[in-house]
This record gives sequence, structure tokens and C-alpha cells, in this order.
Amino acid sequence: MKYSLFAGGKRLRPILMIETCRALEGDVNVIMPLALGMEMLHTYSLIHDDLPAMDNDDLRRGKPTNHKMFGEATAILAGDGLLNFGVETMLQGTKGLSGERLSNYIGAMKIIMSASGINGMIGGQVADMLSEERVISLEEMDYIHLHKTSALLEACVQSGCIIARAEPATQGRLISYSQRIGLAFQIVDDILDIEGNEEELGKPVGSDEKNHKSTFVSLYGMEASKLKVAELEHEAVGMLKPIGVNTNFLEKLARYICQRQK
Ligand code: IPE
Ligand code: IPE
Ligand code: MG
Ligand code: MG
Ligand code: MG
Repeated sequence: MKYSLFAGGKRLRPILMIETCRALEGDVNVIMPLALGMEMLHTYSLIHDDLPAMDNDDLRRGKPTNHKMFGEATAILAGDGLLNFGVETMLQGTKGLSGERLSNYIGAMKIIMSASGINGMIGGQVADMLSEERVISLEEMDYIHLHKTSALLEACVQSGCIIARAEPATQGRLISYSQRIGLAFQIVDDILDIEGNEEELGKPVGSDEKNHKSTFVSLYGMEASKLKVAELEHEAVGMLKPIGVNTNFLEKLARYICQRQK
């Protein structure tokens, strides 16, 4: 569990959660256990995603994958362990909360658990597996991206909004922002799986082709995929403009997600 969690990683999900909360002048101390739990959940999804039964990859976060290092059985259990410990960590954050603060916290946790479950990340991973070896429809492609990847990023922004008690209109704009960066994030992941540099990425290039995956690039082509990312970046940043708080960091984050090389 420690090996994969502390191997590095961009920490994008906790950063998104904390910075959304901070931008809306929410209490960052309250959201911290949710942010930590979220990174543990994300790391478990990576360990399982790399298993021989799934993407069968050997490199993650610049190191041999968990199963390469410790064997498959331990990797499965390390993933399970991170899922459980992530939830436990989140629940520890309820200590000292009461009334509306407690119900908001539980509300955010419910969103995180549902976004990482069968109607979110896990559902998307199942659809991703079922997309191997065949041409899928555009609707199926959207389903995969929105669930396996975007759902967690959306839940991070939503949690930030809930903990900071954002106005419904602000929340609506930030949710639209998160859907755009969520989708862009996976399209860029698909692009980097072809054009990326393995050393910089810290994970293998060519994994999707090896597994005969349907990706945004395999479906729409490289040129159209890059145009789509640019369009999503523009739209995401546009969503932030009318919000009357300092969204500079969230704007930079959207640009980073769309222009990243790792
Ligand atoms: C990789 O996520 C898995 C996807 C959802 C595409 P990241 O690219 O955020 O991985 P780390 O956390 O930086 O290792
Ligand atoms: C997996 O998508 C997303 C997860 C839920 C882990 P990928 O299989 O494309 O992620 P990478 O490229 O291995 O990080
Ligand atoms: Mg995968
Ligand atoms: Mg993978
Ligand atoms: Mg990938």
C-alpha cells in the first residue's frame, strides 16, 4: 500500500478538492481527510488497473507495478486495503463535526463513494474492458471516459463545493468545469499513451494498442482528439470567469490538465 501510494503521482484529485474548497473560502482542514481518502481510492484503482487480468502493465509512477514487485495476490489485497483505509480515513474526518457541517461532510463522502463505485469509476472500468477488440459507438466512448475517469474528478470539485457551502449557481458552474477537465484528462491520457515519453510519464506508452482498447484517439483520430482537448480547455476556463471568487489556480489547473506531458 505504501509502495504505490508514496511512489509519486500528480496528486491531482486531492489538489482539485482542496483548491476548489480554498477558492470558495471553505475550511481546508475539514476537507483534508476526504482529499487523503480520495488519493488512496485513486491509487487502489491504479494498482488494480495494472493487474495482468486488466491492462497487464509493468510500470506505474516510474516504478515497477505493484504486482511486479509483490506478486498478484498482494497487489489485489493492497488495492482492497487502500480502498478500505481510504474510507476509514474519510470517516475519521467526521470527528468534531456536528449539525450542518457533519451532514455536508457525509453528503460529500456519499458523492465520492458513488463516483468511485459501480455508477462511476468501476462501471467505467467494466465498460472499458468490454470495449476491447471491437469498434464502439461514440455514446459508449463517452460513457467510458465520463465514468472511469471524469467521475472522480467531478466528485473532487463537488466535494469542495459542498464543504465550502457554495451557492447553487457557483456549484453548477464548477460542476460544468469539472466535467470538461474530466473528459479532457482522459483524452490527454489516450493521446499520451501514443505520443508520450515513457520516462516522463512513468508508465508504459502503447498500453492501449497492446490491449486493443477503444480510445478517443482510436475512434476520432489524433488531430480531432487534440482539437477536442483545446475546445474543452476553452470551455472549462469559460465556466470559471463569472464566478466572483479567485479562480486563478483552478484556471491554471485546467490549462495544465489539457497541456500536460505526464
Ligand atoms: C491515471 O491517473 C489514471 C487515469 C484516470 C487516466 P493520473 O494520471 O492522475 O495518475 P497519477 O496519480 O498521476 O499517477
Ligand atoms: C484507467 O484508464 C482509469 C482508471 C480508473 C484507473 P487507463 O487504463 O487508460 O489508465 P492508465 O493509462 O493505465 O493510467
Ligand atoms: Mg485501464
Ligand atoms: Mg491502464
Ligand atoms: Mg491510459
